[in-house]
Amino acid sequence: MKIPVGFAVAVLALSMLAGCAAKKEEVPVSVTLEKSEFGLVDGKPAQLYVLRNTNGMEIAVTNYGAHLTRVKTPDAKGNVADVVLGFDSLEGYLGKHPYMGATVGRYANRIAKGRFTLNEKEYRLATNNGPNALHGGLEGFDKKLWSAEEVPTNDGPAVRFTYVSPDGEEGYPGTLTVSVTYSLKADNQIQIDYRATTDADTVLNVTNHSYFNLAGAGKGSILDHVVTINADRFTPVDSGLIPTGELRQVDATPFDFRSPVAIGARIDANEEQIKLGGGYDHNFVLNGDTGNLRLAARVKENTSGRVLEVLTDQPGLQFYTGNFLDGSVTGKGGTAYGKRFGFCLETQHFPDSPNRAVFPSVVLKPGDTFTSTTVYRFLTESR
Ligand code: GLA
Repeated sequence: MKIPVGFAVAVLALSMLAGCAAKKEEVPVSVTLEKSEFGLVDGKPAQLYVLRNTNGMEIAVTNYGAHLTRVKTPDAKGNVADVVLGFDSLEGYLGKHPYMGATVGRYANRIAKGRFTLNEKEYRLATNNGPNALHGGLEGFDKKLWSAEEVPTNDGPAVRFTYVSPDGEEGYPGTLTVSVTYSLKADNQIQIDYRATTDADTVLNVTNHSYFNLAGAGKGSILDHVVTINADRFTPVDSGLIPTGELRQVDATPFDFRSPVAIGARIDANEEQIKLGGGYDHNFVLNGDTGNLRLAARVKENTSGRVLEVLTDQPGLQFYTGNFLDGSVTGKGGTAYGKRFGFCLETQHFPDSPNRAVFPSVVLKPGDTFTSTTVYRFLTESR
């Protein structure tokens, strides 16, 4: 095709101008965002947002339940796999599943007997886990359609989901406005920023409930993954997985992950807490100061060389080894997710904090802003 000279000159001039503008800002865009329709939730459209960086990583999030649905990341040889359990389409997320990739709230984890007292008033929640309340109730944050917006970061666009939880929803006091922002960084970190405000005193504990398998979602159990957790203590539980209130030293227990240990090494130990959890399903009391973003855990999968590091500013981390997965949920590519096919590292406040004055407070008051950051950082290491 022949291009008229005048046109070519104009294009050249424009591109030179654009070049100058780019030079001035000097912000190379390393992350791109693609938005598509994901299906309908009660007649309303849900979206899927795909973030890609120039380093071989791709993640996807949806405003339905603010789920993290996909984390494609390279192994030590550059082969990319999706390392989070979940579903190929919205239908899977709408169906019954144990919070795969979900944003969990208002109160992630358990509240004993679904009751707590705040300012001398007792609040009653649905008991959806035996006698206890779990993960925000019958219709928690994971089942809400959040509003979505694109927000700029230094590395490119990120996605912010916002939900306004009405006063009294699931039994919790106060109108709570909560947002969760997912950003993908150029250096293969996923950053999750939470923010919340309220118009009346309330309690709050939010987390992300992704199940990881660093060999690839659906590629068998996670027992060979090697884990390090930066915690000298954990919170032992009763038979309903409610903390007893004790902060127990991990020394000489199967809960000592201060040096790297395979998940499977002690998961069937003849030990009271392991038996109560059916494996690991416990809150670790993280070392270091709450409020400071610090390394909480590191997990390595030897066949792929993939490494996941989890950073948080929260006081606790629930290490859950997918003990309740039983093959009844069929996920990506038609794979049934069996027992221990994924592990979760849920950054959090301690379970049942509203009933434990000695645990760090989870009370949010009007005029205060709750903020929290979780980072999932992906690396590779050869053996
Ligand atoms: C959390 C809990 C587990 C289990 C899962 C969901 O991580 O600690 O006991 O309820 O969620 O199945």
